[in-house]
Amino acid sequence: MKIYNLGIIGYGGMAGNHNRQLAQGNVRVKIKGVYDINEERMELARQQGFVAYESCQALLNDSDIDIVLIATTNETHKEFAIEALRAGKHVICEKPVTMNAKDLEDIIFTVHECGRIFTVDQNRRYNRDFINMWRTIDSGVIGKPYVIESRVEGSRGMPAGWRTNKAQGGGMMYDWGVHLIDQIMYMTKEKVKEVYCKMYSVNYPEVDDNFRLTMTFESGLTAHIEISTNNFITHPRFYVLGTEGTMIITDWDGTGKVVKKLSDDSTWDSEIKKVKAGPTKTMAPRDPNTVETIELTEPTDVTDNLDPVYEQLVNAIEGAPLTIKPEETLRVVRVMEAAFKSHETNDTIHTDI
Ligand SMILES: NC(=O)c1ccc[n+]([C@@H]2O[C@H](COP(=O)([O-])OP(=O)(O)OC[C@H]3O[C@@H](n4cnc5c(N)ncnc54)[C@H](O)[C@@H]3O)[C@@H](O)[C@H]2O)c1
Repeated sequence: MKIYNLGIIGYGGMAGNHNRQLAQGNVRVKIKGVYDINEERMELARQQGFVAYESCQALLNDSDIDIVLIATTNETHKEFAIEALRAGKHVICEKPVTMNAKDLEDIIFTVHECGRIFTVDQNRRYNRDFINMWRTIDSGVIGKPYVIESRVEGSRGMPAGWRTNKAQGGGMMYDWGVHLIDQIMYMTKEKVKEVYCKMYSVNYPEVDDNFRLTMTFESGLTAHIEISTNNFITHPRFYVLGTEGTMIITDWDGTGKVVKKLSDDSTWDSEIKKVKAGPTKTMAPRDPNTVETIELTEPTDVTDNLDPVYEQLVNAIEGAPLTIKPEETLRVVRVMEAAFKSHETNDTIHTDI
């Protein structure tokens, strides 16, 4: 079985994570060498036993390198991707693959020209929280979903450096939004018909450090995505409303619960009740015997790491269909473009993505 040699362009924090993951030896990909403009990172690579190439071209000229990982800052992805493809390499690019659709269209054109495999590290398709939410919807237990709320919330602001810088693709839409949008679009497969987004720059004036995005799909399904970096009380990771029940996924491990309707509770008294909510019929408490609570436990068959991303790449090199397709990530980039436009114009953007 062939082991594929990996060359890494941009050996920073995330590339270090790829290294830790690949060092486990679960997939047939081995790091050969790296190129980074930061000499400290090059020195680290040498100490770890990797080749530290003197230039990007030197890495690309090495015929031993089969796959190139691009893990530089976001504004550089396009240029490196095209160079690597033209050098005959397969490519895995960090997210966000590009900051606009035109750049990704150019990459996809080059992919077809060069006949190489190009994929994106949308690793959060393989996380326990997301998989458990998807599986629970698929089981039918909550009926037809009509609202999916997906949130990631922190209170520590954003890491210093390029993430606070607009030109380099900083901000939370590119950092986390791209993952959460990709998850929902990967799951639903429906066209996105409307995008509305409100962005906030609470602590970092150049970029969005918080945002609220609403996407409406063809069937009317609504996805509400929120990223916060200034949030001191968190919501559940997912909150899903279905016609027959409600689901929450409380944490990253996929745990949560479903409350499912067993029978209707629509015997309305003629008198308005005085309850905790005040005088109301609609919001009076439900008869507890008409619902069932089902605990959701952590899925044990989900790796929650980068292995599946590499596996699908290796399989595609060997002829299988690719799972994380560039065309899918193009749809995500288009939604992000619409989100920025919505924020700028303070309007709903009608789309056919
Ligand atoms: N998939 C994920 O879950 C995930 C998580 C974190 C980061 N990322 C992505 O990974 C990429 C890198 O993020 P990071 O957190 O590792 O940032 P980082 O700043 O830690 O690392 C970036 C590295 O790229 C190097 N670099 C920058 N420009 C370069 C150039 N022109 N040539 C060569 N090297 C260059 C820098 O010196 C640095 O070492 C970003 O695209 C980010 O969005 C993905």
